[in-house]
Amino acid sequence: MARHGQSKLNAFLHPTGHHVAAWRHPRAQADAGVNFDHYVELARTAERAKFDAIFLADSAAVRDQNIESASRVARYVVHFEPITLLSGIAAATRHIGLIATATTTYNEPFHIARKFASLDHISKGRAGWNLATSAGEVEAFNFSRTAHPAHADRYDRAREFAQVVTGLWDSWEDDAFLRDKESGLYFEPSKQHVLNHSGPHFAVRGPLNVARAPQGRPVLVQAGSSEAGKELAAETAEVIFTAAQTLEEAQAFYTDVKGRLSRYGRHADTLKILPGVSPIVGRTRDEAEAKFAELQELIHPAVGLSLLSQMLGGVDLSGHPLDGPLPELPETNAAKSRQKLLVDLARREGFSIRQLYQWIAGARGHWAIRGTAKDIADQLEAWFEGHAADGFNVMPPTLPGGLDDFVDLVVPELRRRKLFREEYEGRTLRENLGLPYPHHPAAKPSAPPGCEVGGQARPIAANG
Ligand SMILES: Cc1cc2nc3c(=O)[nH]c(=O)nc-3n(C[C@H](O)[C@H](O)[C@H](O)COP(=O)(O)O)c2cc1C
Repeated sequence: MARHGQSKLNAFLHPTGHHVAAWRHPRAQADAGVNFDHYVELARTAERAKFDAIFLADSAAVRDQNIESASRVARYVVHFEPITLLSGIAAATRHIGLIATATTTYNEPFHIARKFASLDHISKGRAGWNLATSAGEVEAFNFSRTAHPAHADRYDRAREFAQVVTGLWDSWEDDAFLRDKESGLYFEPSKQHVLNHSGPHFAVRGPLNVARAPQGRPVLVQAGSSEAGKELAAETAEVIFTAAQTLEEAQAFYTDVKGRLSRYGRHADTLKILPGVSPIVGRTRDEAEAKFAELQELIHPAVGLSLLSQMLGGVDLSGHPLDGPLPELPETNAAKSRQKLLVDLARREGFSIRQLYQWIAGARGHWAIRGTAKDIADQLEAWFEGHAADGFNVMPPTLPGGLDDFVDLVVPELRRRKLFREEYEGRTLRENLGLPYPHHPAAKPSAPPGCEVGGQARPIAANG
């Protein structure tokens, strides 16, 4: 079936780029994790190209606990807390959406509701929250725990966490604040809604001490792709980031998740699915291959092995020969979907451990492609037209160069094919993504049926 509309584009910014050796690239900003000017430049580049948003992942821990490999990587070692960073970037940009991860496992919902509502006000409607249950098990040790909670328990907490956050975001109706100097009435009492939430994980009274956000609610993003992750996304998320290696895999995921939405009274268009893609772009295919080879050369074996071990959920591969096959692995308690993707890949391609880490060094199991702008655009077009994606989570292998290449070479090609916008359509992230405004549950929705944000709008105690 022919497809209408245009692709969405998000720029997923790891400090020096997504390739595990990117920080060693001659053009890399090696101190990128704590270099504010670097991030402002990247955000402005993405905004110049009219990307929907930038996205900053997060980990509340130095992920690699092995000092031999940890001392050779730049990723998840030292970097800004992302909501703080996005607040700074908000002041240096006007249109681009600002999405950050915040974990539901090691936060309280009131904190998260408050911070993202504040970011939404500061940015005038450009905030998005990537709800993660924490892929890194070591985060537990920074929060007075001796172990990472079990996968199912994390998702159980995440579901209630999301309910509390969205409930807190509805603490005030859109027009609650009169600030009427004449009468002395600051807000209309009937338009304040106290949440009074009480559940297995949280007891939160509310109301939130931030007025309703310009977007009604900041955009809710989800990036887990296990069974529990897909179900939570179908219930709550408006954007999904995911990883897929092939068109068929991405199509199956797309059909599966979109098919779940009706269970929650949601229309398929109210959730945008953005698989990751890490493109190496050259003016010729040879140039793209040369850029790839240059990066692969920079991978230290200890770093490759450590990355693989982390992505498989913290398994110890040190006793296995690098040129032998991947051993049988116990099911992980960390990222189940990524472990499955990598094991399937290794078995399908007959990869040794070394070949597998070399394969994922560019994008950790996300779709990594290289070629000319036309080659890249052909493949993105096929995924978009083939109902495998509503857009892409673009993961530049190096920064700033990888983003510059995509913006200067691939974006014009996508525009030529009418696959990407010429101008921002709206003022907020929600409007640019084509997502409906979440009317306050107490207000009469004027949107057509199916346009409410599904599963989230529910009655809450008024003025309790
Ligand atoms: C594009 C993308 C970005 C992610 N960003 C983060 C992140 O910043 N922090 C984190 O702890 N997990 C992150 N994850 C991992 C997921 O949020 C999730 O915790 C993990 O995949 C485990 O869930 P699953 O078993 O349902 O897949 C990301 C995943 C994807 C695909």
